[in-house]
Amino acid sequence: MEAWKAYLEDNKDRFLNELLDLLRIPSVSADSKYKGDVAKCAEAVKQAMLDAGCDSAEVCPTAGHPIVYGEKIVNPALPTVLVYGHYDVQPADPLELWHSGPFEPVIKEGKIFARGACDDKGQFYMHIKAFEIMAKTNTLQCNVKMMIEGEEEVGSANLATFLEDNVEKLKADIVLVSDTSMISMEHPSIETGLRGLAYLEVEVTGPNRDLHSGVYGGGVANPINELCKMIASLHDENKHITIPGFYDKVQELTDAERKALNDAPFDLKEYEEELGVNSVAGEKGYTTFERTGVRPTLDVNGIWGGYTGEGAKTVLPSKAFAKISMRLVPNQVSQEITELFQQHFESLATPGTTVVVRPHHGGEPVVTPTDGKAYQAAAKALETTFGKAPIPTRGGGSIPIIALFEKVLGLKTVLLGFGLDNDNIHSPNEKYDVANYFKGIETIPYFHKYFAE
Ligand code: BES
Ligand code: MN
Ligand code: MN
Repeated sequence: MEAWKAYLEDNKDRFLNELLDLLRIPSVSADSKYKGDVAKCAEAVKQAMLDAGCDSAEVCPTAGHPIVYGEKIVNPALPTVLVYGHYDVQPADPLELWHSGPFEPVIKEGKIFARGACDDKGQFYMHIKAFEIMAKTNTLQCNVKMMIEGEEEVGSANLATFLEDNVEKLKADIVLVSDTSMISMEHPSIETGLRGLAYLEVEVTGPNRDLHSGVYGGGVANPINELCKMIASLHDENKHITIPGFYDKVQELTDAERKALNDAPFDLKEYEEELGVNSVAGEKGYTTFERTGVRPTLDVNGIWGGYTGEGAKTVLPSKAFAKISMRLVPNQVSQEITELFQQHFESLATPGTTVVVRPHHGGEPVVTPTDGKAYQAAAKALETTFGKAPIPTRGGGSIPIIALFEKVLGLKTVLLGFGLDNDNIHSPNEKYDVANYFKGIETIPYFHKYFAE
């Protein structure tokens, strides 16, 4: 283990600079304008795997963006760790809110600012560097397979096919993922569950064209007015969701589980201040941890229609739109919730309007076991490098492919995340602390060691 420390110390600058180079590639999966950059990023990841010591690495084309796969089989008798991550990033806009270019990484006050710094380039790259340390010091105690995809931020549709087509190649004993957060450097933690997702778009149509709001106003339904009412009715005064059947399958936590969840350190004032809100708000009867971790939600992600340009235009619009997402918890099923939403929302159509609901991607919620060998290895690894046992928490975000690792490959996952909730992932000024990056690189080899023991 001394050798790991020495290798890391000797190569710290290079490890950091390599990450910065990766962050300079704008691998935005959602925007076809960046298709070439996504491909270039895939090549860079493949090269990084080879340089780190993989026996083989390849860029695997898909119907969308490619998947990068590399492996080193030390000895088939050893356990195998399948590392999963994503090299694609979210779009960077609104650009004007960034303090420096999203693809021109800078380090300020010990933090790397760039799109993808935390989600997920900074985090998956820790695994390549940790692997390098083990490979170059001849201390690999597990076989390593690495699968880094380019479509996580757009739903991982082609990765699902890749799993089905490569069951044999992806054979492993555990999936290890760093794409989640921990509480803080003082309070290491492990997320033991992720929420699922149902995402859809709604369109409300009124008159067959935009109208003069004076000539026709008051005479026909305004689709924006109606859409707002429909959306408002989706929550009651306790912020419960009103879609019939929505909560039918929701697994309630036991009192002991709720207590454990709320035992994690949390400073309400600090939370409010950091977000610039004068109060938290959410479903009645639940704490913030419960609301963001184990309760389902419904949020409007965007809403548009009519005139939103400069100045005023008196218009009664023909159409109104919204993008709506629901975060799901065990044992809700994305497809079922999508159908419940669709039925309910269409039934809300008021006279003079028609409503269309269009489903987008979804994903299932997951819970990862805390009693298995893998969780124990992760907990022990964190304890080794942080000097403290990690706290189990529940994550509010979604990584849809995790449920499929279990379903298609029969594999459990450990979410060994080193991000922080305030790393601004998907927001302007995304960052990742240099300290977290190196702490991750330091911790991961211990996972391999303890998992093999
Ligand atoms: N890494 C995130 C998910 C995440 C973040 C989980 C923080 C736990 C803590 C991932 O890249 C992500 O953003 N997922 C999307 C879903 C996807 C289908 C677009 C999400 O959660 O919105
Ligand atoms: Mn991610
Ligand atoms: Mn993301």
